Amino acid sequence: MTMVQEDFLRAFHAAHPAVTVRSMAHGRAEDGRSSYEILRDRVAQCRRLLDLGCGDGLLLELLAAGEAGAGRALAGIDLSAEELRLARARPGVAGADLRVVRAQQLPFQDGWFDGCVSHMALMLMSDADQVAAELARVLEPGGTLAVVLGGGPAGGEAYERFVQLLKPLFRAAPAEQQIPSFGDRRLRSREGFDEVFRPAGFRPARWETVRIDLSGPPERIWRTVGGFYDLAPLDAAVVADLRARFEAEAATTALPDGRIPCAMNVRVATAVREGS
Ligand SMILES: C[S@@+](CC[C@H](N)C(=O)[O-])C[C@H]1O[C@@H](n2cnc3c(N)ncnc32)[C@H](O)[C@@H]1O
Repeated sequence: MTMVQEDFLRAFHAAHPAVTVRSMAHGRAEDGRSSYEILRDRVAQCRRLLDLGCGDGLLLELLAAGEAGAGRALAGIDLSAEELRLARARPGVAGADLRVVRAQQLPFQDGWFDGCVSHMALMLMSDADQVAAELARVLEPGGTLAVVLGGGPAGGEAYERFVQLLKPLFRAAPAEQQIPSFGDRRLRSREGFDEVFRPAGFRPARWETVRIDLSGPPERIWRTVGGFYDLAPLDAAVVADLRARFEAEAATTALPDGRIPCAMNVRVATAVREGS
């Protein structure tokens, strides 16, 4: 099963590299930061950082920037060679150690990092206990783990409408057009997160739900929701019809300036490696 999931992710990201950045990087929390910037700030004190499932390297670039970034040792891993190719092309990431490997088997020495970040990736990974054990191994005692996990649509706006339109299509699709189920359900709650990470050697997590405002012009909203993994196996005609229906519905909610209100929740979890 793990292979099916990871093969799907490799193929999807090969076809749509940078999909998450296109979908989410413009989103802002109430305090004006993107979800990537929130993670950057959670590890401001760290000097040796790993980005787990780093995708096209936006977060690594933020971590390399400015005064805090000077002299930092950065590493990023991802299943997708195509995503890492884009990361390597970012000037700010030039010095980072980027590797196409699985999070379940990290090629780093024990205690090498004092911080690890992961944006919208941990919740996709199978063998969560193994990933937690690997993170505990490569983080030094007192090291910080900071992750952003998907939290679903924030009520009443375009994202939620989209999910409502998508659900019946997804249910009606033949088995070969269903995406595999990803990740470990325990990572959807603070209690479950601690159930995975405490036995591995982490202190109880700080856990917050943050609303990310993704409002924008209609084409940008489609870039956000159209990047869902669920859409990839559906017939092109089905997706075109979904888009037309979604955009017609979303248009009825447009603000006076033409923007469509859209928001999602993310969970921001921070946990410290025991032993400091
Ligand atoms: C939704 S994307 C997020 C990418 C990036 N962190 C961002 O937010 O822009 C999830 C990423 O996690 C990677 N990924 C998923 N499972 C993984 C695993 N077991 N090991 C390494 N990378 C994994 C995928 O290849 C993909 O690039």
